[in-house]
Amino acid sequence: MGKPLRLGIAGLGTVGASVVRIVRSNLSTLTLRAGRPVTITAVSARDRKRDRGVDLGGFAWYDDPVAMVADPNVDVVIELIGGASGAAETLVRAALAAGKPVITANKALLARHGVELARLAEAAGVGIGFEAAVAGGIPVIKTLKESLAGNTVTGIVGILNGTCNYILTRMEKEQLSFATCLAEAQRLGYAEADPTFDVGGFDTAHKLAILTSLAFGTEIDADAIYVEGITSISLDDIKAADELGYRIKLLGVARRTDTGIEARVNPAMVPKKSVVAQTSGVLNAVAFDGDALGEVVLVGPGAGGNATASSVIADIVDQARGHLTPVFGLPVVELMPYQKAEIQAHKGGYYVRLSVYDRPGAFAGIAKSMADRDISLESIVQHRRALDGEEALGHTGAPQPVVLITYATRETEIRAALDAIEAAGHIAEKPTLIRIESL
Ligand code: HSE
Repeated sequence: MGKPLRLGIAGLGTVGASVVRIVRSNLSTLTLRAGRPVTITAVSARDRKRDRGVDLGGFAWYDDPVAMVADPNVDVVIELIGGASGAAETLVRAALAAGKPVITANKALLARHGVELARLAEAAGVGIGFEAAVAGGIPVIKTLKESLAGNTVTGIVGILNGTCNYILTRMEKEQLSFATCLAEAQRLGYAEADPTFDVGGFDTAHKLAILTSLAFGTEIDADAIYVEGITSISLDDIKAADELGYRIKLLGVARRTDTGIEARVNPAMVPKKSVVAQTSGVLNAVAFDGDALGEVVLVGPGAGGNATASSVIADIVDQARGHLTPVFGLPVVELMPYQKAEIQAHKGGYYVRLSVYDRPGAFAGIAKSMADRDISLESIVQHRRALDGEEALGHTGAPQPVVLITYATRETEIRAALDAIEAAGHIAEKPTLIRIESL
């Protein structure tokens, strides 16, 4: 049995506390799997007195995580502080500068500074493990970096945020409001400290940026990702999706196209029969398309302490065994510059919900605006509100909800058609536009 691998953990929130608990309770199995003893020697967090429900006895305590890096009894620095900058960034840079490997769950940090940190890690001859940064407990990083190495990956479609999936699932199943479901997700510890990161789509974008780099061998460019969140999804859309055979999911999608990489985060209509549509609650799903393998979908817990800790521990075992791979699958110098395909070039079907004034010529005008741009409609559904008496006999002039599904068209065309419909005064509110993902 080799010499012990000694861990210093910075950040003792939900994930950090779970890592401590699992390392302590699975010590003998871990030692066998790692081929050497694995032991926590030091920890760092903001509040020493807080009860985290785990035994921290025997660990050196550091108020300052950077001071922990210099501890000669720490071989590997585990960063579970979070955030794209600040203490987490300072700590990771300090660890790499000291030639110590890093394990992190920090998707925001990697999405912003990943290439530079990979360069520092290469220069120091150490690794950065980040299995926990994407899709919590699902082994997506190892899958892309190692298991799919024989494939050219052409596309990734993923539910990458447990909080959003939990919210959308509960809204659909229990017809609850967005606010109620978000509060529940926060109570259960799924959401980020600032839930805007979740519901605004930014957490998904950070994860997608990492997957995109691994899948396509490019530098990370988090700013190149088009982002829409779920805050404007209404129960009306969820019900309409259901009637039309779809479910609404917040997806991260990246595909190679003729003009570059199309990478976007948006709520999408997905066919109910697809694995992605059937992934409910806090679960995540990631579908990869590889030329040799075809499609593979991984489904599992994407958030929560134990699930995320499970991925941290997988990286610890790799570290203990000296399994060192380039941070983003290729040496940094081999990563291609990121070439972005604009969202306007996206081609696909669309769900459109309009609030249409109920009067002669409205449908004709809408259909003409679509036809003028070569947009073909697959279906039109009008949910006329129940009316009494005189009103029920004829048109009222009042706005009525109308849902359209288009065949595949370009985003520029559908947006131009909606602008024309709005300019012609046929609709009472801004249209809702949701992309259809034909999985
Ligand atoms: N807030 C994240 C989620 C946690 O809901 O998926 C894991 O990154």
